Formats: sequence, structure tokens, C-alpha cells
Amino acid sequence: MVNEFEIKKQICDIGKRIYNRNMVAANDGNISVKLSDDEFLCTPTGVSKGFMTPEYICKVNAKGEVIQANPGFRPSSEIKMHMRVYQKRPDVGAVVHAHPVYATSFAIAGIPLTQPIMPEAVIALGCVPIAEYGTPSTNEIPDRLEKYLPYYDAVLLESHGALTWSVDLLAAYLKMESVEFYAQLLYQSKVLGGPKEFDKETVQRLYEIRRQMGLPGKHPANLCLNKGGMNCHNCGGGCGSTDSAPEADAELIAKITKQVLEQLGK
Ligand code: 13P
Repeated sequence: MVNEFEIKKQICDIGKRIYNRNMVAANDGNISVKLSDDEFLCTPTGVSKGFMTPEYICKVNAKGEVIQANPGFRPSSEIKMHMRVYQKRPDVGAVVHAHPVYATSFAIAGIPLTQPIMPEAVIALGCVPIAEYGTPSTNEIPDRLEKYLPYYDAVLLESHGALTWSVDLLAAYLKMESVEFYAQLLYQSKVLGGPKEFDKETVQRLYEIRRQMGLPGKHPANLCLNKGGMNCHNCGGGCGSTDSAPEADAELIAKITKQVLEQLGK
């Protein structure tokens, strides 16, 4: 049984972290957590995520419609973006959206984070593509994000910010930290004359470590390599964007499980 109040407190703690670490300014950013297939908690729109208390947090259904919200609070204007992640990735338990300075600068410059420059970034993220620009709060962002969802756990949103997701809230938040740290290292090494990139063999060895660690989520170590040996470090961040891309395994497993349960009459 999920303790809803504890999760609301955790959302407030993570809100403070993203605010105190300069990953958002003013009222920017939003956070959501899945409670069940039709119940989600999310931050309210138009408040500083650094100063929230549990009564700020709203509850919505899978369509993003309000189930419960205290007077004066409405769900995040970006709730559609969060819901699209849950819809397409049944393995995801939490989503974090922020505007960290370095990652957002890459998103504004239109440069995806695809250079393999340090082991942790290769293992944790693989690479981070850019979802094409969409107007905030409309379906444009979820629609442009969708093709990346089966292959990645972090994307840059063109000219806007970054979005990460994972099995739970702490993991989704830590992914945001990893994206920003990777972006900062990439930026600063460019200033110093350009990063020295790992060669393919080194990248493959790091992918192998990732596979052995059995980490959850999507990563080129598990997916893109199945596509003719391609990985994001040599496909320019677009290996998840081809129309003929195979269906992601988590989605397929969820579909098959649903069909089996239906046949069993559950
Ligand atoms: P909300 O306050 O509506 O969640 O919006 C903040 C934001 O960062 C929009 O991209």
C-alpha cells in the first residue's frame, strides 16, 4: 500500500533540490509520481517548486484530469507531457521536468548530448537526444517526445529544458542530475579545446558493464545495439527516431501480460 502523504513529502523534497541546485528558476519545472494505473500525484502549476508543502500536491487520473486538488491549486500545465511518458512506458514510476542551465543551453543551441566522454555518463545515460520544439502546455511537446520514449530515459526539449523519468522519484531526479553534470562537463571540455571522446571499443566495454549491472530503464546498451550494431554514440542521437523502430520491450511485455490476463478472465 503506497503511503500517499509520504510521496507528497518526497515530491516537496525533490522540488527543493531542483530549486536549490539551480535546475529551475522562479516557478519553473514540474514533477509527477505514479500511484497506480489511474492515479498520479503532480506538482501544481505556477508555484515555486522550492517552497511546496504536501497540501500543494494535486492528484490526477491517467488523462491528467483532476481527482483531488486543494483550493487555489491546479495540476501542472505540462501534465500532458508527463502522462504521455506513463502511457508509453509502463515501467516508469516518476517524471521530472527542469531547466538546468547547461542541459538547457545545449537544448537551446540544438546540440544533443551524444559524445562519449566519461564512463558514468555513458553507463547511466548513453546519450540524450533532443525532442523537437513544441509549445509548452499543448500536445506538441508530448507528440514530439513520443518517438524517443521507447529508447531513452532522458531527453532535452528543444529551446526549453530537460525531461527525465525512471522507476521511482529519486531515480528520475538523479537522472536529471546526471544529465546536467554530463552537459556541464561537455560544455567545459569544449571550452578547454574539445573533449577527447572514447573509441567504439571503450564504449562497448562500458555498455557491457551496464548490461551486467542490470540497471532498469532504456539505454542503447540494451536497445540500439540490437539495431544493426548502432548505438547513440555513432547515430547522432537519432537511433530511436526511425519510423521502423522496433517496439520497446517493456511496452511489448505489458501488452502481452494484459492479453494473457484478459484471456484468464482477470
Ligand atoms: P507549471 O508550473 O505549470 O508546472 O509549468 C512550469 C514549467 O516549467 C513549464 O515548462
